[in-house]
Amino acid sequence: MIPTFGQAGTQSEKVTLELRRKSGEILKTLLLRKGVNLWVALRRFGIPVGASCSGVGVCGKCAVRNLGGQGIELTPRTELEEQTLSRQGLASDLRLACLCRVNADTAIQADYW
Ligand code: FES
Repeated sequence: MIPTFGQAGTQSEKVTLELRRKSGEILKTLLLRKGVNLWVALRRFGIPVGASCSGVGVCGKCAVRNLGGQGIELTPRTELEEQTLSRQGLASDLRLACLCRVNADTAIQADYW
């Protein structure tokens, strides 16, 4: 059974999130309420995710790579996210989990999983 986060609802309101190791191996598959904050969901499931700034978008420690490929799975980058990625010298293809919401099925990867 896939662990689920979010209020009960119809299947169409849920999205599947695969967590992948750097090797590509699937660490875990989660079922989330569509639109949930990624960082909040990961922490709710006890998944290790960086958080030096407690999720306010300035430390860059929660950076993950979206493997979805279509660019629509996570909400678009905000100006704050762009600034933090640049200031912290992080790769432009990374996303800050605390600043994005999950809108569609996808997979993400963190180097430390
Ligand atoms: S927790 Fe600090 S930028 Fe996301």
